[in-house]
Amino acid sequence: MKKGIKRRVVWSYLLLIIFSVALFEAVILFALRLYYMDGMKQALRDQGTMFSSFYEQEIIDDRLKIDAGIMLHQYNFLIDAQVQLVDEKGLILADTHESTDRNVGKFEDVENALMGSTGYLDTVLEGERVLIVTQPLKRGSTVIGVIRFTSSLEKVNDIYFQNTLILLLFGGVVILAAAIMSLFLANTITKPVSVITAAAEQLASGKLSTRIPKEKDDEIGKLADTLNYMAKEIEKNEHLKNEFIASVSHELRTPLTSIKGWAVTLQSMSEDDFFRDGLEIISTESDRLNGLLNELLDFSSLSSGRMPLVFDKVSLPSLIQQAVQQLEPRGARQGLKILTKIDKSVEEINADYNRLKQVLINLLDNALKFTPSGGFITITLFFDKKEAVISIHDNGVGISESDLKYVKDKFYKGKSQASGSGLGLAIVDEIIQAHHGRFSLNSKEGSGTTAEIRLPLC
Ligand SMILES: Nc1ncnc2c1ncn2[C@@H]1O[C@H](COP(=O)(O)OP(=O)(O)O)[C@@H](O)[C@H]1O
Ligand SMILES: [Mg+2]
Repeated sequence: MKKGIKRRVVWSYLLLIIFSVALFEAVILFALRLYYMDGMKQALRDQGTMFSSFYEQEIIDDRLKIDAGIMLHQYNFLIDAQVQLVDEKGLILADTHESTDRNVGKFEDVENALMGSTGYLDTVLEGERVLIVTQPLKRGSTVIGVIRFTSSLEKVNDIYFQNTLILLLFGGVVILAAAIMSLFLANTITKPVSVITAAAEQLASGKLSTRIPKEKDDEIGKLADTLNYMAKEIEKNEHLKNEFIASVSHELRTPLTSIKGWAVTLQSMSEDDFFRDGLEIISTESDRLNGLLNELLDFSSLSSGRMPLVFDKVSLPSLIQQAVQQLEPRGARQGLKILTKIDKSVEEINADYNRLKQVLINLLDNALKFTPSGGFITITLFFDKKEAVISIHDNGVGISESDLKYVKDKFYKGKSQASGSGLGLAIVDEIIQAHHGRFSLNSKEGSGTTAEIRLPLC
């Protein structure tokens, strides 16, 4: 996500800037070229005009053909160019440089000049780029010859090339600055979004007390406000639900206790087998309901924080031993073996003994419930860096991949038809979290389940 928006913002800004810079530079370079060429043309034209006004008398006297050489060599030209005097047929009369051509009448510039207007030619002569400007020499309105200037464009091209380099460099700097700025801008958008995403993930994982810090009063700030409001509302509802569960469970417990009490009393007084069986069922079902109510009460007081943990020194090996002892008879009845692999070197940890025992009993109860007769359950305790790790493995029916994500949720039982409230693993998770530990489930449908608890050592 982060990359997505960032990339889009950076690229769109950059493309816009690159396009504008390229357009801007192209226009400037084009204008520059025109400016240089016009300057050259103007300078050469001026020389021609000056020459013809200097020799006005000679031209009127029609001395051009006779005195061309003298005229050309006496006149002091202010520019560095080859100058030729050409007669009305295009034949060169005089030349400041050696020239192979004697007749230049075929050139476009000379043709134009002979017709009375200034002629221009931008061409390559002997591998060199040149600008030729030719002006008519007129007596009255008759053209009696032309003066032709050929000037190299190399110098102009050099200057032009230098200017191009400077412009390109400038363009590069602008693009770089734009890139840095757009990256910065993109960060100001993506950073708060990732902060919100992280907080939303926390909320989604159940940490409803998370609040998103609001940085600015903009759209993102509004989003933070909305999410915070939503979290507050969910928290309120969660609280209401816990209260409700707690009070209903509490109310149900009193009548249940008297039902159980009377069932037991009547059972001991009755002689009739039929009655005794019926009362037996009432008694065990009351136990089951009682267990369910206890789980509900536990859960609601655990998650509302009304049941503070009592921390004390706890020896994990003896805790495990106790839990196993409690469930071994049931395992034997179901034809299941419970094995233990315990690292006894473990020092004591700081924990709530009864709550941890409840965790182990819940996990062992699941393992027993979901493992067919003949299977076995293994409890392992070992130390990994700064954590005590308890893992409970069974080779039972396992949990399908689609259920595995949700089994820790309250009341979620997946496809299981076995009795139970679906609260066991949710309680385990709450207790382990309250110990600042981690609880994870690994399972493969058909081959078994491993529950792992990691508790910090100090
Ligand atoms: N060891 C296990 N093997 C197979 N499935 C299990 C195991 N432990 C838990 N489950 C699945 O997770 C669900 C939730 O477990 P839990 O929260 O303890 O509720 P309950 O035991 O009341 O059904 C169970 O209903 C079952 O589908
Ligand atoms: Mg259970």
